[in-house]
Amino acid sequence: MEIVCLVCGETLFLDEKSYCCKNNHRFDLSRKGALNLLQSSAKGKHHGDDKLMVRSRSLFLNKGYYDSLSNAICDLLVNELPDESCIIDAGCGEGKYTVDLLNSIREHGKEAEILGIDISKDAISALRSRSKEIMGIVSSASRIPVRDRSADAVLNIFSPLISIEFSRVLKESGLLLRVVPQEKHLMELKQAVYDNPYANPHESGHIPGFRIKERKDVEYSVLIKSNEDIVSLFQMTPYYYKTSRKDQEKLSYITELSVTFSFAVFLYSKEQEG
Ligand SMILES: C[S@@+](CC[C@H](N)C(=O)[O-])C[C@H]1O[C@@H](n2cnc3c(N)ncnc32)[C@H](O)[C@@H]1O
Ligand SMILES: [Zn+2]
Repeated sequence: MEIVCLVCGETLFLDEKSYCCKNNHRFDLSRKGALNLLQSSAKGKHHGDDKLMVRSRSLFLNKGYYDSLSNAICDLLVNELPDESCIIDAGCGEGKYTVDLLNSIREHGKEAEILGIDISKDAISALRSRSKEIMGIVSSASRIPVRDRSADAVLNIFSPLISIEFSRVLKESGLLLRVVPQEKHLMELKQAVYDNPYANPHESGHIPGFRIKERKDVEYSVLIKSNEDIVSLFQMTPYYYKTSRKDQEKLSYITELSVTFSFAVFLYSKEQEG
């Protein structure tokens, strides 16, 4: 998949330790090989998930708690992909599902080129630690640096849904795979922290410009028997930063918690234009 310059739209080529277009716009490649396409005015600021969230997510996901979800994602998508595909994981985070998908594609005798895009530098750095085979780009999913209709699939897993941009980068035959938390997701964790926890809103899955091809609900409960894992689970969610220190500390004393995980996995095709 060609990567394009976000300043002028020309193709970016690897030139030693950076990527450069013919108009000499140059973008750094980090030591880990993460390509940073954020404009210089945005570079100094912090964007997206920070180091603590990214590290907590890696710690938690590496224990296998979400493997059933990852398997469901691969089951829905891999058989639908062509033998060689171009895939964009938009808001890929630290890359657990990105890497699992590449492995599953290969187990099925297929091949894929996968771009992981995230606005957080820490997330892309963690993705590159997981795998050097996936290109990691620090950039917003609202302006994906590829040409129109170049991807066979876009992944949108617990990350912002930017449907117009996803539609732009997908081929006519392209697929969108989206995961959203359902009503009961993490309810016991919220009950442990908040006096009046809210359920997540119901999600119909409807997206303008896309048609639901398949939907799979994944729900299970796990007894988490480790304080470290309970705290990591909380720290990888946006709730952590919206919660007072006093409420955060309620989790320091909990060594066992049964938690419900509840996700909806949607596979969409593009609604044909015209
Ligand atoms: C809840 S995390 C999910 C990460 C990964 N998909 C997963 O499920 O493990 C949401 C991710 O979206 C990223 N993000 C937020 N806004 C974004 C944007 N506008 N463009 C790209 N990534 C974004 C965050 O930095 C974070 O890594
Ligand atoms: Zn350029």
